[in-house]
Amino acid sequence: MLRRTILVMLMAAVAGFGVYWWLTAPAASAVPLPSRAPDLANGQEIFNVGGCSSCHAVPNQPDRLRLGGGLALGSPFGTFYAPNISPDPADGIGRWSEADFVSAVMRGVSPEGKHYFPAFPYTSYRLAKVEDVRDLFAYLKTLPPVSGKVRDHDLPFPFNIRRNVGIWKSLFMDGKPFVADGAKSPQWNRGAYLVNGFGHCAECHSPRNLLGGIITAQRFAGGPNPEGEGWVPNITQKGIGEWSAKDIANLLKTGELPEGDSVGGAMTRVIKNTSQLSDEDIAAMADYVKSLPPVDGPPRPKRKEGGA
Ligand code: HEC
Ligand code: HEC
Repeated sequence: MLRRTILVMLMAAVAGFGVYWWLTAPAASAVPLPSRAPDLANGQEIFNVGGCSSCHAVPNQPDRLRLGGGLALGSPFGTFYAPNISPDPADGIGRWSEADFVSAVMRGVSPEGKHYFPAFPYTSYRLAKVEDVRDLFAYLKTLPPVSGKVRDHDLPFPFNIRRNVGIWKSLFMDGKPFVADGAKSPQWNRGAYLVNGFGHCAECHSPRNLLGGIITAQRFAGGPNPEGEGWVPNITQKGIGEWSAKDIANLLKTGELPEGDSVGGAMTRVIKNTSQLSDEDIAAMADYVKSLPPVDGPPRPKRKEGGA
């Protein structure tokens, strides 16, 4: 309720209509890309780093490559339903051009020129290299088409207005590309690229402000689960300082924690994807996570009976 009041106030503040229209306009439509032979193996690796299957696979069936959508994603702003992104021409993205796909994944703009809601983590995916996004698109086209459209999102006003996402984007998407750090190793840079870009680890492992934007100063420092119950741990050195890079790699490969238990909660969905990655990429991601300087996260409330 408080969140909604604040957003309504924010909207009132920018209600000077021209300002609103300008701020909320999606960027110009996609431009065609020069032709290029796709690397399907790389597309598959990116698919697994990106965890597309966690949200877009048809729920309650075993095949993680049936991307017919339908999973309900809770949030403080309402419930989102992951759409069908299988290559089905009528119900999925079978008729999309490569440029449509690049624009969706990197700018959060649909082929019809509308904003996507940031429940689709394009806020992280936008850091990707265009070639990786193109390989991913080619790989998705090799997956089975699944028919059936998904129901509409269940969002109260004003969160259901896609134009408002333009305001959100202007506040929380700085448009800066990923820049490699020349002082660090190629492995570390690969890890930084994967973790911050397609891996979208910070989307869950960071606290958010009342408007749902990541609090930059506490990136990776954990916080309440954005999807509802439970807590997402701090994965800076403040939280997992005792873990070695090998421990982190082993978690991403097997789901095992250093003490021998299995990781739980939403992280199990992540492991289904990261367990498919090459050992090199896992080692790179672990190397980068191990290097995150210690940052205090928000205080964690006392555990409730049976809470995660
Ligand atoms: C955390 C859940 C989540 C993950 C992970 C995720 N998506 Fe999505 N995706 C969504 C949601 C929710 C939407 C709907 C957004 C909207 O309607 O504004 C969406 C929308 C899309 C769309 C637009 C579909 C349409 O019909 O317009 C595409 C394309 C897409 N996602 C591709 C991907 C790819 C590729 C990946 C992996 C790199 C991915 N998504 C990962 C939740 C997710
Ligand atoms: C969908 C949300 C989500 C995403 C995305 C996500 N995590 Fe997690 N992660 C969690 C949750 C929730 C836990 C706690 C699981 C539990 O309670 O057992 C966790 C646990 C962890 C832990 C163990 C920390 C500890 O103290 O036990 C590590 C390390 C970790 N994640 C790293 C990553 C990395 C690296 C990525 C990106 C590849 C990632 N996570 C992406 C939700 C997520």
